[in-house]
Amino acid sequence: MANMRSFFVWILIFKTCYSLCFPAENDVVINNSSCSLSTVPKNLPSHTHILDLSQNNITEIHIQDFASLHWLKSLNLSSNKISNLARGFLRSNQELECLDLSNNELSSIECHFLHNVTSLKYLDISDNSFLSLTLGKAFRFLKDLEYLGLGSRKTIKLQKNDLKEVSGKQLQEVSIGLKTLSEFDPGTLQVLRTTKLHIVLPSTNKTGLLETVLRDAFNSSDTLKLSNIECYQECSQYINSFKTLGKFSRVSNLLLQDLTLEDWKDLISIAKHIWVSTIKSLSISDMTLRKITYASFECLETTLKTFTLRRIKITTFYFAQSIVYNFFGSIMVENLTISNSGLIFMTCPKEGNIYKFMDFSDNSFNSDFLFQDCRFLNLLDTLILQQNKLGQLFRVSTMTRYMKSLKHLDVSQNQLTLEENSNCLWTNSLTKLNLSSNKLTDLVFTCLPSRLEILDVQKNDIYSVPKELNSLDRLKELYLGANKLANLPDCSNFRNLEILFVEANSFHEPSSSSLQSCQRLTMLNAASNPFTCTCHLRDFSRMKENTHIEMIGWPESYQCAYPDNLKGTLLKDFHLSEVTCSTTLLLVIVLGGMIVLTIVIGLMCHFLDLPWYFRMTWQWTQTKRRAMKTDTHLLTEKLAYHAFVSYSQHDSSWVKEQLLPNLEERGSPLRICLHERNFIPGKGIIENIINCIEKSYKSIFVLSPNFIQSEWCHYELYFAQHQVLSEQSDNLILVMLESIPQYLIPSKYYKLKSLMAKKTYLEWPKDKNKQRLFWANLQAAIGISLTAPTEEVFV
Ligand SMILES: *[C@@H]1O[C@H](CO)[C@@H](O)[C@H](O)[C@H]1NC(C)=O
Ligand SMILES: *[C@@H]1O[C@H](CO)[C@@H](O)[C@H](O)[C@H]1NC(C)=O
Ligand SMILES: *[C@@H]1O[C@H](CO)[C@@H](O)[C@H](O)[C@H]1NC(C)=O
Repeated sequence: MANMRSFFVWILIFKTCYSLCFPAENDVVINNSSCSLSTVPKNLPSHTHILDLSQNNITEIHIQDFASLHWLKSLNLSSNKISNLARGFLRSNQELECLDLSNNELSSIECHFLHNVTSLKYLDISDNSFLSLTLGKAFRFLKDLEYLGLGSRKTIKLQKNDLKEVSGKQLQEVSIGLKTLSEFDPGTLQVLRTTKLHIVLPSTNKTGLLETVLRDAFNSSDTLKLSNIECYQECSQYINSFKTLGKFSRVSNLLLQDLTLEDWKDLISIAKHIWVSTIKSLSISDMTLRKITYASFECLETTLKTFTLRRIKITTFYFAQSIVYNFFGSIMVENLTISNSGLIFMTCPKEGNIYKFMDFSDNSFNSDFLFQDCRFLNLLDTLILQQNKLGQLFRVSTMTRYMKSLKHLDVSQNQLTLEENSNCLWTNSLTKLNLSSNKLTDLVFTCLPSRLEILDVQKNDIYSVPKELNSLDRLKELYLGANKLANLPDCSNFRNLEILFVEANSFHEPSSSSLQSCQRLTMLNAASNPFTCTCHLRDFSRMKENTHIEMIGWPESYQCAYPDNLKGTLLKDFHLSEVTCSTTLLLVIVLGGMIVLTIVIGLMCHFLDLPWYFRMTWQWTQTKRRAMKTDTHLLTEKLAYHAFVSYSQHDSSWVKEQLLPNLEERGSPLRICLHERNFIPGKGIIENIINCIEKSYKSIFVLSPNFIQSEWCHYELYFAQHQVLSEQSDNLILVMLESIPQYLIPSKYYKLKSLMAKKTYLEWPKDKNKQRLFWANLQAAIGISLTAPTEEVFV
């Protein structure tokens, strides 16, 4: 219970320190650390929140130095040469929460400036040149203080009332550097109310001093960290001090740091005292041992649950490894951590051990024999062998064989490989396996414990997840990131998968359909793959919108890598229309379009008589072209009329009311020859007709059923056509006033028939709107400029 509590307190301390001294998201941070500054820079931005001036050569702080920084929350002046602080130098910085003045040359610990910064939570003034550690009255006003760092490098005494000013405060951590301590009044530390106390122990062998300090420390906090433990030759002072632990201690977590011990034997002596105290967790880090000699260590009853060793250095090469292994094999703790200590092997612990948690990360284990056939680790729940040199996955599997409680195994960051046809033998209890950062291939899927719930095989050499393998029905989380997968795996063998990580692989066009077998998937990380943004990727790029699956890293880590013109585009912004991607749809649209167009054209022809317009326009352009080609100059000399009009008497009303007005009166008037109007008296009709035809540029025949009936008209047509043949000029214009059914044309008029078949004729439109185009066409057909006036010729 107490252990739990201290664990939370640790978290709390960590969190506060973190939030205090590390930037939040929108804080303005100025980092001028290690810039060889000798004064505080001028013109710092006035909205600065966090200012780091540590590790410079600043000797003095002036009153104006921070006067403009009203929002300053954290100020780091550590590791400078400051000996002088202007009184009131923080008077404008009431927001200050974190102040680090450690490792400077301050000589007075009065700290008047604290009056101005009463919201301070973190204050470090350790490692200065104080002559005493008698805290000034100003400390009393720090109502929110959580962390206090004290200490001096001058020889000091610690006296009864030195820490009185903070004695009423519930602090989280106090760190006191007492390396240079010369005298100590017992009880001085006990006035502190702090969850964690860190003491840098004196480097002196003055009789009794260490014992009094330690006895005080053991009774001052729940978590105690002691550093600077130096006993080369003679360790009895420490050993004796730890003896008092059993009687006085309030400590449940003991951390020993920076130890230099002469002999393994000394460690065992200290350990024995700790074992019989009330301490629940012991952590030793950064220890140097010079010698390993045997000392017996019986299985003692203990409250100790957790034993942690980190960064242990043994400076002798020749020693009996068994001494060390025997010790670890026989201690009765639940939690054992030995990390970063160059360990190459560990023997199977003795029967009756109660290990539940073992962490041997960052050592040099490389043996195939590690814990093989070890039948006494049957309480073990968690085994961490991260960052060692293990080589064979098959061996790792057989190692676990008898660990019937093992749930979690971490063998990440080793050099594991697996040969084909290895017959892996895992313990059945394993639910979480971490194989990340090894050299495993696709074969790894043939060597997995069957009840796995979480599998991490990130950073290996996996190219695909084989389909034919024993299914892992309980697997919920699969981490496959940073491999060489060419495709998204499907879930046919992991039907209950909830979390899938496949980031940083090599797939270009994952298809979301492969995830269809993953019915229970709730989270997917497929970020940082070289996506090829083409039609195939469309479904995948819309997965975020179309499913409830949470996509880790979306949208910023999902970018097109190909094609080049889309490189760097977010998948979120990559859109291709339905049409571009579906051939069927494209066909439907093209065909549909054509059908619609045909219908529209059909309708237009039907209702608007488009063909008629086309025909007229075509004729008009043809005429224009012909007119350009003919040498009109030659022609015009003997011509008197633009056109001769031949028509049946029955159509004369149309000729007089429509044709003549439109040709002779509108626009540029044309001269028309009508045989009844322009007849030269005294000449026969035939002669007159011929004359009229000869003097006209064109001959217009108004065709209608009436025309067929008229003999005369036929003559006229005959002559005119004759002239066409003789002069090689195309001067017949047929105007179809009313359509003539073929059967109405008598067979003797075969000429007219063939003419009508050969020659295109102008149709007279009944629709008024169309008539203008008709006239324009007709005018264009006969419109040339004539020089000779009619009168001269005929009169
Ligand atoms: C101040 O800077 C020093 C050296 O850069 C660093 O070790 C220390 O942690 C910093 N202090 C705080 C409170 O961040
Ligand atoms: C053992 O250590 C692990 C990991 O540090 C922790 O989660 C667990 O609570 C510890 N167990 C005991 C009994 O202290
Ligand atoms: C596996 O171990 C690595 C460190 O080697 C760690 O980063 C990762 O989070 C672990 N995986 C799981 C699923 O805990």
